[in-house]
Amino acid sequence: EPVTDLSGKCVIVTAGPTREPMDPVRFLTNRSSGKMGYALAEAARDAGAEVVLISGPVSLETPYGVRRVDVGTADEMLDAVLRDLPRADVVIKAAAVADYRPAQVADYKIKKSGEEMVVRLERTPDIAEEVGRRKQSHQLLVGFAAETDHVETYAQDKLKRKNMDLIVANDVTQPGAGFEGDTNIVTVYDRDGEVLRLPKLSKREVARRLIGLIGERLHAR
Ligand code: C5P
Repeated sequence: EPVTDLSGKCVIVTAGPTREPMDPVRFLTNRSSGKMGYALAEAARDAGAEVVLISGPVSLETPYGVRRVDVGTADEMLDAVLRDLPRADVVIKAAAVADYRPAQVADYKIKKSGEEMVVRLERTPDIAEEVGRRKQSHQLLVGFAAETDHVETYAQDKLKRKNMDLIVANDVTQPGAGFEGDTNIVTVYDRDGEVLRLPKLSKREVARRLIGLIGERLHAR
């Protein structure tokens, strides 16, 4: 049974890794599976929302009834988010956006030589921060933070810096939390502190509870 009613609401979810090319055959990426984001898209759909799922490259089926927009790089993900942002009531940033990308992208495959090679990296745009800057008063921005230590401090720093309303933190050193697996262990914070602490649950159940909390916050406005 649905945890909240999001009918008439538009929810944007970003999910998966981004892929930052170095040449036509190589790229930098990370271990994100997209499972948490896809579970959130399904839970938001089950609550009756119109869902736009902006997805990096993952091997997951598109959830039924969800509009999926496929992107590769952080730049493409930013463009896709900004395109639908004006219509959104909620933006959930579950994607593991690459923080750095190769500063130069070669037009042809880079040839190997006997020498060592240096690849210079530059920062990618911070999508959550950009959304935080443009956010309208009725819009709710929810971020994720994968931390290994000082979880609450770092998560709340991020929340404030990016002007988020909620941040979902997981301690990725704990077994059963974070990337790739089917379970997660999360704690949610707002500006005032801890608002929800969940035990180890399936990502599907974590998603249901998070959507429940998001619905509560949205309706309290
Ligand atoms: O990478 P970081 O730990 O700062 O990520 C925290 C939040 O910011 C996550 O919700 C992530 O999706 C988002 N983020 C982003 N664009 C980036 C880096 C992170 O939207 N370039």
